[in-house]
Amino acid sequence: MNKFFYLSCLLLIITAMSCDSRQNNGTLIERSFNKAIPLYDNLLKTTADNLEDYPHSLHPDGSIKYLQIDEWTGGFWPGILWYMYEYTEDEKWKIEAIRWTESLTSNQYNTAHHDIGFMMYCSYGNAIRFLDAPSYKEILVQSAKSLCQRYNEQVGSIQSWNTRKSKGDINIWEFPVIMDNMMNLELLFYASKVTKDSSFRDIAISHALQTLAHHVRPDYSSFHVVNYDPITGKVLHKQTLQGFSDNSTWARGQAWGIYGFTMVYRETGDKRFLSTAVGMADFFLDHPNLPDDKIPYWDFNVGEEGYHPDWDYHQEMEVPRDASAAAITASALLELCEYADAGKRDKYKNAAHEILSTLASEPYLNAEQSNPYYLLKHSTGNFPSKNEVDVPLIYADYYFLEALHRFRQQKDHTHSE
Ligand code: GLY
Repeated sequence: MNKFFYLSCLLLIITAMSCDSRQNNGTLIERSFNKAIPLYDNLLKTTADNLEDYPHSLHPDGSIKYLQIDEWTGGFWPGILWYMYEYTEDEKWKIEAIRWTESLTSNQYNTAHHDIGFMMYCSYGNAIRFLDAPSYKEILVQSAKSLCQRYNEQVGSIQSWNTRKSKGDINIWEFPVIMDNMMNLELLFYASKVTKDSSFRDIAISHALQTLAHHVRPDYSSFHVVNYDPITGKVLHKQTLQGFSDNSTWARGQAWGIYGFTMVYRETGDKRFLSTAVGMADFFLDHPNLPDDKIPYWDFNVGEEGYHPDWDYHQEMEVPRDASAAAITASALLELCEYADAGKRDKYKNAAHEILSTLASEPYLNAEQSNPYYLLKHSTGNFPSKNEVDVPLIYADYYFLEALHRFRQQKDHTHSE
């Protein structure tokens, strides 16, 4: 009798705990989207008939920092509107998502930098999940053609930025490629699928292999910038622009790598990309400097011995975090856990859930509307340039919402099994 009683109690507790954790997960998604609604309503009001100013961040005085169509973050606002539509199924968000997506049309010819993948695939790439619009597909294919114009066969890579000076004016970068560029490759895989022209895909694979060879270190940390000789294809410099020092690991660069190599594995099935994504994810998650709440400092090596910045660094404040790197990583891990060996699956899934729980709580979620516009707080854009330090950033919100959708789909999938 006693044994039966204790066993029943245990069963009840386990059932209650599992319901509670499911409810918490459900609540996490629901709470985050519900908090987002009034914030993005406010952002929409500020941009009502003006489809030229794309919300990006906040100025120090609290006013909205907008960027224009030529900047890399223009696609995130329409992408957010698509994610809001996907969750709420409210036509209001779809109407705005279409307006903002179409505002980017002329970017399909933008060859000024590599960011066209971010701009067009986060906007039009999301739009085609909901609309059967042949013109959108053509725009994406033209965007892919524009991106390929920056490909150099000798280097085997797409040039990220035009020729520029390195941080601290140490040298000139003639053909700089940054880790972030991995994110632009999804557009090329898409273009090959719709046109049946494999050249886009070939360029993407070549670029990913070069990035693997030269940006990823043996311990799976990463260089932010690699500068090549555009004539010989030789690697000339391995440096950083937004990280602490050339040999450090910039948190968002590492996050772009985890996400990018996971996506390239999805598109190619090539295990070299999977093991790179796994190695980079493990570096991130197992790093002794990753705080317990799993939101990284803006660089893994800030102020550490052996890391020497090419800019003036004085530790005056607590090292800021980068919620954007956390959001990108959470989204990437929710895909990577589907491909990784059984032994790693739970590690990535649990880490993604932990990151999302942290982001969906104080002090990261803007639940109390400490600013009226953005969902996540505490991201860092470019610390060495003292630009966008500990602020909301539109792409942190975008990847957070994407990760919440991935989380929701996984949960739905798990329950239907
Ligand atoms: N270039 C994109 C970034 O700052 O992460």
